[in-house]
Formats: sequence, C-alpha cells, structure tokens
Amino acid sequence: MSKKRILIIGGSSKIGLTLINIIKNNFSSNFEVFGTYNTQKTPQLTKLDITDYVMMENTFSKIQPHIVILTAALIHPLTCEENKTLAWKTNVDSVKKIVEECKKINSKLIFLSSDYVYSGKNSLIEETDSLDPLNYYGKTKLEGEKLVSTLEKFLIIRTAWVNDTNPNSKSFVMQVINSLKQNRIFNVATDQFGHPTYSVNLAEMIIELILKQANGIFHVTGSTYISRFEFAQKIAMAFCLNHNLIHGVISKSNSGIQRPLNVNLNLNKLKSIISVNPLTLEEQLNLMRIDYEFDPILKDVKLIPIGKFHDERGSLSVMVSKNRNDAPNFDITQEVYLTEIPNSQTIRASHKHHHIDEFFIMLDGSAKFVLIDDRENSSTYKKSFTTFLNDEFRSALFVPSGIFHIFKTIQNNSKCLAIASKAFDKNKPDTISVEHKFFGTEFEN
Ligand SMILES: NC(=O)c1ccc[n+]([C@@H]2O[C@H](COP(=O)([O-])OP(=O)(O)OC[C@H]3O[C@@H](n4cnc5c(N)ncnc54)[C@H](OP(=O)(O)O)[C@@H]3O)[C@@H](O)[C@H]2O)c1
Repeated sequence: MSKKRILIIGGSSKIGLTLINIIKNNFSSNFEVFGTYNTQKTPQLTKLDITDYVMMENTFSKIQPHIVILTAALIHPLTCEENKTLAWKTNVDSVKKIVEECKKINSKLIFLSSDYVYSGKNSLIEETDSLDPLNYYGKTKLEGEKLVSTLEKFLIIRTAWVNDTNPNSKSFVMQVINSLKQNRIFNVATDQFGHPTYSVNLAEMIIELILKQANGIFHVTGSTYISRFEFAQKIAMAFCLNHNLIHGVISKSNSGIQRPLNVNLNLNKLKSIISVNPLTLEEQLNLMRIDYEFDPILKDVKLIPIGKFHDERGSLSVMVSKNRNDAPNFDITQEVYLTEIPNSQTIRASHKHHHIDEFFIMLDGSAKFVLIDDRENSSTYKKSFTTFLNDEFRSALFVPSGIFHIFKTIQNNSKCLAIASKAFDKNKPDTISVEHKFFGTEFEN
C-alpha cells in the first residue's frame, strides 16, 4: 500500500515537532511527513504563513496531502486578548482557508483544539457538553472547531497543558525548571485545575487515532487532574530543584484574563478506541527526566534519574548497574551504606574524600545537598552546586572524590543510600571534614 502524505502545518510547534519526530522514527512505513514553520526556521521544514493564502495554496498543491494536521495557532490567551484582530485572522480566518483547501482534494483535517472551549465545572466534562469559552483565545478555537466540523473527514483534538523538555521551549515544565535553576520564586495558581499532557504521549495518541481512522471530537490529554501549583511542585521534585520556591497565588492575581479553573475531561471516548494509555503525571515526568539533559554545573558531578517500573504488585527500580543509563553505573562498588535519619534538619557528611567516589540516593524522605568543588585542576574549582533529592522521584547524585559535600534532611524519617567506590579502611583515612559554615549561607537557608 502506498504511503499516505501527512502535512503538519505548524511543524515548528511543541506538538508539531514531536509528531514529526515520532512519525519519521516509528511510522515511516505508513506515512510520508511534511512540516511547515512560520517564524522559527527549522531544518527540513518549509516556510508557510497561514495568513498568506497564496503561500497556502502553493503548499497544498505541491504536497497534495491525504492528511493535514493543523497545530499552528496564536496560542497565548493574553496575546489573543490584546490582539484580537490577529487572533481571529490566525485562528479562524486561516482555518477557514485550510478547510477549503482540504475540501478541494478530500484531505482529512486533524485540528488541535483546547480545553479552553469550556468554562469548566466541578464534574467530569464530556465531549458533548456545552461550549462556553471564557476568553478570546477559547472563542477563536471554538470558531475553528465549527469550521473544521463541516468537513466529511476530521478529528478535533481537545488537549490541555502540553509540555516538552526541549531546551528552547516555553512549556510550563521548562518555565518552572528554568526559574528554579536560577533560584527565582515561581508564582503559580492554586485554584486552576487541569490535565498535564506530555507532547510525546499526545503525539502517540493522535497517531493511533489516525491509524484507527477515527472521526469526530476527542479529549486527548494525560490522565492526571491536578492544580497548577501541585503540578509545579512535582516538576521541582522530578528535576531535583527547590520546591519551596514555588509560591501559590489565586489565578486572577497572576494574570489579567479569565481562564477556566476546573476542566476535568472525561477520556473514556478516547480510551475506548486506542491502546496507547493517557499517561499519569508521574509517568510523564519520569519520561521527561530521561529526555532532559541534567547539567549539574560542577565538572563530573552527575544527576541520574532512576527508572521505576510499576505493575500490580508494586514497583521495581535498579539501584546499581553496569550497563544501564537509568541507574548509577559503577564499575567498582566496594561498599553500600544506609543512613536512617529520624529527624528533619539533621546534617550529615560535611566532608570530602581523597579517593572515594560516591552516589547518593534518597530511599525515603528528602534532603538538600550542597557541593563545593575543591579540585584545583578542575574547570569548576571553588564553584558550588545545590540540589534536592527525594524519594518520590528518585535520582542518584554522583559526587566524585575531591568535592566537599553536605546534606540536610527536609523530612522526618529520611533514609539515604550511599554507594562508594572504595571500602572504608581505618588505617588509611580518606575523609577531610569541614565545619558546616564552610558551605556558606546557601546551605543554611
Ligand atoms: N500548548 C498547550 O498547552 C496547548 C493546549 C491546548 C491546545 N493547544 C493547541 O495545540 C496547538 C499547538 O500548540 P503548541 O503549544 O505546540 O504551539 P507552540 O509551540 O506555541 O507553537 C505555535 C505554532 O504556531 C505557528 N504559527 C503561529 N502563527 C502562525 C502563522 N501565522 N502561520 C504559520 N504558523 C504559525 C508557529 O510557527 P513559528 O513558531 O514557526 O512561528 C508554531 O509552529 C495549538 O493549536 C494550540 O491551540 C496547545
């Protein structure tokens, strides 16, 4: 069977880029994929401004797509409110033109819509529930939906809170990570609830809907329903950052426009058709941790997210391995220590080793670690690094010899595992201790 041609309009978007990568890597025998960008020039994508209809007609007649996925849109609610003319032109008028082009060659149109077409309520929302957007962005997405649904073959994907870990991305996950890495307070709404969605999971679900030749309107998101505030805290924990910098605010004080506060989407229609599972937030963050490149600032120091495999019996994690990248990889492990610490605010370590390299993992509870590089020939000599380990999203912190390190428990009943490259030898002391104040105010706070 000949391959179907898919045109992704907005190939430079978070969702578009992910779709292109997954189709190219995993579905190249089913589809030939073409993508477009507008302002963000991207290798292998062609230029298309959807408000330029001549360019649009040329793109359609050149590619003659069987399937069009429309991700391009003006997506920031505040921008749409402030520039209504541009929002309508991009999110409504251009959709009308794309629908016309699809009608000409009988293409199927997959339209990325939003949970902002609802005003939100305290019970589960079905695809057939009434639509009453609260802001202009939501209104334009609803108008787009109406146009798309005049086609014979279409999919309307109502998604929400889409994230990726692309270093240049402005996704919520990357905003939280970048802010906390710079030690900045991150204000976030405590009263706005929704479904975080990982772009990879979303793309896989959309592709399965296409393969199953589904038609109509679908909620397509992650399965966890959570507040923005708790979501931000989970991000901090998953990426070993300081969750105390996340400050809860009431949503109205955070931005000038109205947003739906409780959009709890029923995913049953989606689940009845596809076999790919909408992921829980924990599953999404564990995958994002693997995709994300941790850069712990000090030379040779590493943070390794430890994989966790769940089934009905519980979970399984690999704590040391010779050949995995989701576990500490130690050629030589000579000793493994377990410290059980009943009280929070308890300080341990406060030393460096001459020859011993170590991995630290919090088995229970959480702790703040501060490291200072004391290796004179290191490019990060005298620099310090602070990180936070916890038992919910376990990471292994690798501390090579020559780096001073200290940690302080944050919770009662914490347990820390230390995996050492050399056994303790009382005849050859390897430890140089320092007072806590050596680690400065960064540690005290
Ligand atoms: N992100 C979310 O949380 C979320 C939630 C619900 C629904 N959605 C929907 O999902 C879709 C994709 O969202 P996203 O977050 O992946 O988007 P994104 O990363 O912010 O990217 C927006 C895309 O729109 C393109 N674009 C904007 N104006 C254009 C124009 N005049 N001509 C051609 N392309 C134009 C941009 O191209 P350049 O960058 O090249 O200029 C970019 O590819 C949108 O339709 C959005 O409404 C997103």
